[in-house]
Amino acid sequence: MKYKIHFPQFHKEIELLKEKNILDYARELKIPIGSSCKGRGICKECRIVIEKGCEVLNQKTELENDLNRNERLACQAIIKDDSADIHIRLSYQGSLEQIATEGGKKEVKLNPLTRKKGNKVLFDDKEIGSYQNHIYGIAADIGTTTIVLHLVDLESGKLIFTSAFENPQRLIDGNDVISRIMYDREKPAALCEELISCINEKISKMPCDTNEIYEMVAVGNSTMRDMFFGLDVQSIGVKPFKSVTELRGSFTFLNKRGSNSPLRINKNANIYGAPLIGSHVGADTTAVCLCTGFFDESNLTAMAIDIGTNGEIVLKYDHNIIATSCAAGPALEPMPALRGAIQRISIDNGEIGWKTIGNTEPVGICGSGIIDLLGELIKTKEIDENGYFVNRKVFKITDKVQLTQNAIKGENGLMWSKAAICLGIKVLLEETGISTDDLDRVYLAGSFGSYIDKENARRIGLIPAVPLIKVVQVGNAAAGGAKEILLSRERRRLAEESVKKVKHIDLELIPNYGERLMLDEQNFKKLKFP
Ligand code: FES
Repeated sequence: MKYKIHFPQFHKEIELLKEKNILDYARELKIPIGSSCKGRGICKECRIVIEKGCEVLNQKTELENDLNRNERLACQAIIKDDSADIHIRLSYQGSLEQIATEGGKKEVKLNPLTRKKGNKVLFDDKEIGSYQNHIYGIAADIGTTTIVLHLVDLESGKLIFTSAFENPQRLIDGNDVISRIMYDREKPAALCEELISCINEKISKMPCDTNEIYEMVAVGNSTMRDMFFGLDVQSIGVKPFKSVTELRGSFTFLNKRGSNSPLRINKNANIYGAPLIGSHVGADTTAVCLCTGFFDESNLTAMAIDIGTNGEIVLKYDHNIIATSCAAGPALEPMPALRGAIQRISIDNGEIGWKTIGNTEPVGICGSGIIDLLGELIKTKEIDENGYFVNRKVFKITDKVQLTQNAIKGENGLMWSKAAICLGIKVLLEETGISTDDLDRVYLAGSFGSYIDKENARRIGLIPAVPLIKVVQVGNAAAGGAKEILLSRERRRLAEESVKKVKHIDLELIPNYGERLMLDEQNFKKLKFP
């Protein structure tokens, strides 16, 4: 008799083979399971519950010590014996609940490049169609984790519809740009096709005649933007980490005609890729700068921070702008923001309070919850400023959800991610001689920055130690900037001109980078400079 591995949630099963791990089976069956670290046991996205058949698997590895009794990491669970059926349930399932969609509500003077003249539709004063009833445009923020599409009426400037969803590539090959670039090398065009087909499906559900969509403005990090345009992204994965549009010379923005793209919008539509800042600091950061006023005349000294597996940091001072990116890794988001993720945690007089997304039983902790937890543990002196528990090895929030010492201080743990972002911030301050006291504003952009508690983020040294009134959570400023570009030719030109003046810093080239990252910044001290 042949035994099988079953995934009852998905009504799928397949015959057992010895020495194969469960993540491989899940991928083979196209089960939507996260695996950002590509099976290295770091991201913990592949957590599963073994409902039946534990005995045919290998022993738990060290990487699984902090899991519940019946839980395993799919990438670590290997079939050792094919003499019984196994039943598997994913610990995390559902769609992301915390996606920031809105950002920067400022009014821009309506003057789109795509407009109506008589009974014609013009793009940059050239006829591209005959006017029916509407002229629509889409502002798209294509993130590594999530995608936001805003359908905008280009005649009134009104937002008509928003679609926010997970990037489908995430379940194919991890949650960081380097994994995507490597996958693209092995299977050229596969990720691009997946992305476009998902976006097409969302566009088809928009409340409009898709033939009346005459422009799309796309922002995203350099890899995502270029992949969306079907460009070769391999050069972004190797030194000096540059997009083909950077390597070719004078400008990095893109224009493509609808008929040359598989997107289901008007065939004469213009598809615009906003310009990049440099290297991994892409068009999404350009859009954040536009939306937060970094490209406008002002005397504010301000910093914008977008925290993610790849974090971007920009500093504006006098009339200068300097930017960098840092590989923060997946630790700050131990569980995606799905139903059942603990999103808020407090500790008062030893009492632990928590709140989950969807008010359901907790199954893990998402990014905002982990920042709260670290902040509260520091406040109550349960962990010291170097990240070590004072009196314990594990902190239990519930019977099933806990924080281990290894999750904080282990390889690629929380401290590592904090250190990467903190070092990026400090390097920009050092380069410019700006002190944390000089900062008039600290903008937190993106979904992560929108949902975290800023006091706890400041307490653990993830953001500069400035008065909280100066810290502004700006939501999805990248999508906000894309909308500005869509609605105003002046804002588009400003973005194109301004990116040329932004100085980009490659963190890996600064002296003692490794030592500073692995030693100096491995603590939860307040982020002060000097
Ligand atoms: S793929 Fe299993 S822990 Fe990341």
